[in-house]
Amino acid sequence: MIKIAVLGYGTVGSGVVEVIDKNIDSITRRIGEEIEVKYVLDLRDFPGDRVESILVHDFDVILNDPEVRIVVEVMGGVEPAYTFVKKCLLAGKSVCTSNKELVASHGPELIKIAREGNNNFLFEASVGGAIPVIRPINSSLTADRILEIKGILNGTTNYILTQMSTQGWEFEDALHKAQELGYAERNPEADIEGYDACRKIAILSSLAFGHNVDYTKVHTEGITGITSTDICYAAAMDSAIKLLASSYCEDGRYYAMVAPFVVHSSHPLYAVSGVYNAIFVKGTDIGDVMFYGSGAGKLPTACAVVADVVDAAKHLGRHIYTSWSQEDLTLTGIDDATRSFYVRIAGKREALEDAVRKEFGDVKFISIKEDPDGFAIVTPPVIERSFKEHIANIPGVTSYIRMEGSSAS
Ligand code: HSE
Repeated sequence: MIKIAVLGYGTVGSGVVEVIDKNIDSITRRIGEEIEVKYVLDLRDFPGDRVESILVHDFDVILNDPEVRIVVEVMGGVEPAYTFVKKCLLAGKSVCTSNKELVASHGPELIKIAREGNNNFLFEASVGGAIPVIRPINSSLTADRILEIKGILNGTTNYILTQMSTQGWEFEDALHKAQELGYAERNPEADIEGYDACRKIAILSSLAFGHNVDYTKVHTEGITGITSTDICYAAAMDSAIKLLASSYCEDGRYYAMVAPFVVHSSHPLYAVSGVYNAIFVKGTDIGDVMFYGSGAGKLPTACAVVADVVDAAKHLGRHIYTSWSQEDLTLTGIDDATRSFYVRIAGKREALEDAVRKEFGDVKFISIKEDPDGFAIVTPPVIERSFKEHIANIPGVTSYIRMEGSSAS
């Protein structure tokens, strides 16, 4: 019998207990030995709940119990998760986590401690919810050189943008619904400002490129500035707006960013709707590999955590090697990338057409009935730095969004 402990009995923690209870027979068959949740740590009490009798408030009870071989950390946030996880690894326990803040901030250090102690620090659920993507990058795709990762990595924002475009909902209504459904982080700022997707692309890029991608260096924009008028303009272009996270290597230079993009209906990411995530991994020889599935939610995320518990249980006392050096990868600024932009301009097209053409030459003009006092343009591909100089010369520019599919990558 392998005893485990769960730190945190929130959405994912309760999902972990539920999945283990529900699937104990098949899990036991797959490990070859039974697992049992010996403790659940939470500050709160849960009278009448299934975990009432195994609930502890003192982390040291778990740390000091040698019977506990695997600890599941699903508290979220960096502290006290980091302190608890580090202590568990140093005490010879393996740790499985869904906590992307923890992994993005301290991943390489915790992997190193696990390696030195012959145990494991596993974090499949930290990116893409139920989608297996960490393990494939660490094993199935290791024969090739990964050149690019691009995808929709945040279920909450994808759900919000989908509802805004299919239901005509305003941003706030869609956000409340996402929170109600348990997709959003405790602090929704992490989702809607792109911070969650930023940590996830930093994790995937670190694993793909082998060196640490410091998430604080990743250019990050969220979706709070997207309006229903932008959604209408996108629809007029047979496109949708998606929050994309990407990183790529070109001529020995590495780029990473998170930002909303206008994605055409012919692009595979256009069809990724609701809480679903999708991730493209491009390799030199494998071409594109795409991963798709539920990117958030209690049970999908819990299943990914429990799958890590199964792996940890199958590798007790044996480290599964993960290549993630503590040395930082140098990222090149996104101002050097070339792409087209959708730009909104307040004012009459007739009055501003010459100014627009003077800056960008041959642009595409779009007018929609929902924006009677303005219009939009799509620029030809242009270096981002020079794009910003050009729009400063056009009166009435209110906002812009990058167009997917025109990047130099
Ligand atoms: N808030 C996250 C999301 C949860 O919406 O994708 C899963 O990481």
